[in-house]
Amino acid sequence: MFSQRQFDTFAGESGLAPAPPDALGLAALAAAVRAEVGKHADWSDTAQLVASALERHLPSPGILTPEQRSGDPETYKSEVIHSEPDGSFSIVALVWLPGQVTPIHDHVTWCVFGVIQGMECEELFELDEEGTCLVEAGYRVNRTGDVSGFAPPGDIHRVRNGGDRTAISIHIYGTDVSRVGSSVRRYYNLPVQPSTSAA
Ligand SMILES: [Fe+2]
Repeated sequence: MFSQRQFDTFAGESGLAPAPPDALGLAALAAAVRAEVGKHADWSDTAQLVASALERHLPSPGILTPEQRSGDPETYKSEVIHSEPDGSFSIVALVWLPGQVTPIHDHVTWCVFGVIQGMECEELFELDEEGTCLVEAGYRVNRTGDVSGFAPPGDIHRVRNGGDRTAISIHIYGTDVSRVGSSVRRYYNLPVQPSTSAA
């Protein structure tokens, strides 16, 4: 086992880009996720196992460089920070300025995420029987330290930074996002109706 200082020294002497302050934290997280994914459970169980791993190894914002942690005024930032060589999972950092929001979407595979700075608001939706509109299905506020996991189907959602400071979250997907291009299965540009069950 070597220290962060040794890791940084090695990176500098080898001519590699300087390591982020908490590179060892990312390596520990990737190792923990690798162990859970290697159990080859179904998607739903894998999401729960990986969520437990992320809870145990939830990194600090120091897992990212200052440049990676800075938001983009144009849109929320999404950056792959680890791709497992066998393509079984990838780890993505999302950085959101206040008010920035995703389109309504769902995913091609299981997803686990944890908030490491600020807060994120998540709206959940369901397709109506005809598939012509969405119905509101729930609302969650995820704050720093909160971890969630889910698996398709039934994962239509929209996420926004509902706080007043930059939000950062770590997302883990059951595919190599850098190879397949995106974790998104579909964007939903459909009318949204309020839930009828709240009446
Ligand atoms: Fe999503």
